[in-house]
Amino acid sequence: MYKLAFVGGSIHSIAGYPHFIASQMDRRFEVVAGVFSLDENINIETARQWGIKNIYKTHEEMLNDKSLDIDAVVILTPTPQHAKIIVALLKRNIPVICEKPLVGSLEELQEVEKIFDASKHFLVVTNNYSGFPMVRELKEKIKNNELGKILQIRLQMPQESFLRPPKSVRYPQKWRLNDDFIPMISQDLGSHLHHLSYFLLEEEPQKLMATYESFSQYNVVDDVNIWLKYKNGTEGYLWLSKIALGNRNGLHIEVYGEKASALWHQENPEKLEFSYSSGQKVIIDRGSDVEMLPNSLYNRMTPGHPAGFIESFANLYNDIANSLENFYEKKRYTSDYVYSLEHAKNSIRLLHGASISNKEEKWIKLKSF
Ligand SMILES: NC(=O)c1ccc[n+]([C@@H]2O[C@H](COP(=O)([O-])OP(=O)(O)OC[C@H]3O[C@@H](n4cnc5c(N)ncnc54)[C@H](O)[C@@H]3O)[C@@H](O)[C@H]2O)c1
Repeated sequence: MYKLAFVGGSIHSIAGYPHFIASQMDRRFEVVAGVFSLDENINIETARQWGIKNIYKTHEEMLNDKSLDIDAVVILTPTPQHAKIIVALLKRNIPVICEKPLVGSLEELQEVEKIFDASKHFLVVTNNYSGFPMVRELKEKIKNNELGKILQIRLQMPQESFLRPPKSVRYPQKWRLNDDFIPMISQDLGSHLHHLSYFLLEEEPQKLMATYESFSQYNVVDDVNIWLKYKNGTEGYLWLSKIALGNRNGLHIEVYGEKASALWHQENPEKLEFSYSSGQKVIIDRGSDVEMLPNSLYNRMTPGHPAGFIESFANLYNDIANSLENFYEKKRYTSDYVYSLEHAKNSIRLLHGASISNKEEKWIKLKSF
């Protein structure tokens, strides 16, 4: 079992507890240390509730403790703090598992690129939504040409949180109300959609056109539309919103091919719907004869007993554990499901390009900056 330390992710955060459960669900990792919050009381209370003995006041203090025995660090701080913590960890050759987005700007990306050496560093991003078995199944179907030539991919992540915040957490946090050149909504949600577009198509777009709006009381960008064009003629469309009432987390995937189209909705994640050119509509789930069936991870409980967000996160943590094993044994880790710096770089370039497009009100070639 690999030993993990968390930086960020206290009991008062959004991402912390899902990581705490998902990383340990299949006994591949154990959380043994952390600086969960810079607030001393919250830090101590998190360690108490989770039974963690090694607790530190700052990540620097933790990294300077020579007696601490860990295999990787998980970064769960607000996004603007990722870059400096990643750099501190890579300088010490400590494997890094970072929440998305890896960083929030081209400048921060350069800071990480300057120090990152693929031959000696382990650096992966938790793009969790591709951990759902039915999203993985869809990837297989696209790869096997069951949908034919892909004409369109439409990905949406509309949320209502700026008009109607979730009651279970303090939202929005201050750091989410501070837009950089890449607005926070794009760092937050656009990074997920970029990941899913690449995960499914295995291709990056060539050019894009974007428009930003600000509708809510917070005076930050809260609604983004991005149109994408790919080399082979595929069209893409991304919609991110925090002002879409009725959508708690409306992550939705539509892929339109010449032979069939596919629909997947995160709030009903065990079903994947296909519509064929014959007119037939077919809904599959884990109980169907699907490619993904043999993997026991996707069947922690038999079909008909719904699995969801945490289980899909745990699937990704299993893939990360496999990659970490390869890294420790062979210094190399390639996986269909675990993504590193190059993917994060393409994400930042796409989102940076969207900001240029919105500002200049024109199509932007993604190779042009
Ligand atoms: N994959 C997902 O579904 C998902 C969901 C939510 C958030 N996220 C990502 O997770 C990250 C955190 O988001 P969140 O919503 O949980 O934020 P949050 O503000 O709710 O929590 C951040 C936590 O980090 C702590 N912290 C801040 N600075 C720190 C430091 N220097 N050292 C140690 N702890 C520190 C805070 O006290 C808090 O506990 C972001 O990068 C966000 O994009 C991902």
